[in-house]
Amino acid sequence: MNFTLSKVLKYTFFAVLLVLYTSSCKNSTSKKTIATHGLITQKAMVVSAREEASKIGAGIMQKGGNAFDAMIATEMALAVTYPYAGSLGGGGFMVYRSFDGQTGALDYREKAPLAATKDMFLDTVGNVVPEKSQVGALAVGVPGTIAGLFEVHKKFGSLSIEEILNPVVALAENGFVVTKKQKERLTKHKALMLKTNIDNILFTHNYKEKDTIKNIPLAKTLKRIIKNGPDEFYKGETAKKLVARIQSYGGIITLEDLARYKAVWRKPIRFDYKDLSIISMSPPSSGGVCLAQIMKMLEPYPLSEYGHNQLKTIQLITEAERRAYADRSYYLGDPDFVKIPIDTLISESYLTDRMSDFTFEKATPSSEINRGMIQGYESDETTHYSIVDQFGNAIAVTITLNGAYGSKLYVPEIGTFLNNEMDDFSAKPGVPNMFGLIGAEANAVAPEKRMLSSMTPTIIEKNNEFWMSVGTPGGSKIITSVMQTILNVSEFGMSMQEAVNEPRFHHQWLPDTIVFEPKSFDTVLLSKLQQKGYNVNEKKSIIIGKVDGILKLPNGSLEGGADRRGDDTAIGF
Ligand code: GLY
Repeated sequence: MNFTLSKVLKYTFFAVLLVLYTSSCKNSTSKKTIATHGLITQKAMVVSAREEASKIGAGIMQKGGNAFDAMIATEMALAVTYPYAGSLGGGGFMVYRSFDGQTGALDYREKAPLAATKDMFLDTVGNVVPEKSQVGALAVGVPGTIAGLFEVHKKFGSLSIEEILNPVVALAENGFVVTKKQKERLTKHKALMLKTNIDNILFTHNYKEKDTIKNIPLAKTLKRIIKNGPDEFYKGETAKKLVARIQSYGGIITLEDLARYKAVWRKPIRFDYKDLSIISMSPPSSGGVCLAQIMKMLEPYPLSEYGHNQLKTIQLITEAERRAYADRSYYLGDPDFVKIPIDTLISESYLTDRMSDFTFEKATPSSEINRGMIQGYESDETTHYSIVDQFGNAIAVTITLNGAYGSKLYVPEIGTFLNNEMDDFSAKPGVPNMFGLIGAEANAVAPEKRMLSSMTPTIIEKNNEFWMSVGTPGGSKIITSVMQTILNVSEFGMSMQEAVNEPRFHHQWLPDTIVFEPKSFDTVLLSKLQQKGYNVNEKKSIIIGKVDGILKLPNGSLEGGADRRGDDTAIGF
């Protein structure tokens, strides 16, 4: 059922929900008196960056498929309709909670090729050359998407790959309609796409809003994958085409790199925040660890009393973020390569100590915050979708090409862009990457290592039952956007849609600045923050995150939150 058709249902539930919310909300100075709700359905829902992808995923569940089948269809439909971040040439993370309460996480993050070296993005005098890790063939990490989706299918799939992917093949063949926002993005990135690829590519034509784009090479690639399985991408004709394109542009990925790629099941990070049990992505994403650190640092304080986006709330969240991102930069990397003291980093005693110098009187400058000392330790563009099915399975998936259209290197014969995930490594300790994030040895480049991520696909339980699935793109701002969305519902009594809609802010230790979504925050509030020593920047970021989520309401129905900042759409039944 699409958004328009569901409007009647939505408004029927509207009055009931208002009563339910009012009774379940905590006191909040900023609690809305008129609630705005997203799509509400009874059984199943997909919320993703494109209507077509949500529709295909929901259609798979309506046919009897489960959330995992829907994941495969949704993700490939995003590869067709949302090449900005969806692709066969990227990677991602999935966190799940199955109908019987089992939880887990899949890491299908890209990894460095065998020929990668620690200094590969430095010039002859040791300076970082950002273009090398951000644009073109050297920036590409070995893609994990197809391995990840087949791994999910092997463990949880209920329909055949053919049944799941046939609607996606049809979508690529029949085409999708260019939205206004999509047209703007294509126009903005056209010059760099042309500079990176010798010839015109499918996405450098002068599209207008409402034009239809058909991607026949991608349809053919998907048909080969349906027929031959993941080996088609990692060892077959597709692998050969991919490697030929990358190497002809000076890249170092080989057939051996592709053949060796494996998705890995990981134990997710689990922590409690008040009455919520939060399950999020473990390393090689920093998402779960940082989310746990920030929320545990906030937990002792009465946030709902301080009020949503009020002075004390912003100060407190900023100071917790500052400390968590300082730890991120030092301790976190690929757990198969570095020892990460996760238990300590998210322990109450460590985090209490971390906040011991915090005061509401004035900002703690980032120059005075270093990583926390742990004894014995040695050492824009991404997209998210959430799915809940009629059986009670819930998943949260964040996937990425890293930058917009990844490395901009396109493989015309396959019909997909390739990632520029190598920029998520720390090219040189202390030198910021494209998100301004600073890394250390733990995240240095090494052959076959996975680069540190900020992706934070998150599932939340309340009273031992599924409560929310949430996540977002946004590079370094992913973690703080997810955290604010959770707090908007749990502390400030908002609906899922309101929680996603609300303006956000972000601090990441360095640079020592709070970034605010422009024209969304009270100027008096901003000057009070400045008086307390906070650097305020309202101009740098037009949007902070593009959050999609699904919330289970007290009556058991599902509410979607599809971010107004994009073309994001909730569809379900
Ligand atoms: N490429 C963005 C991230 O993984 O955090």
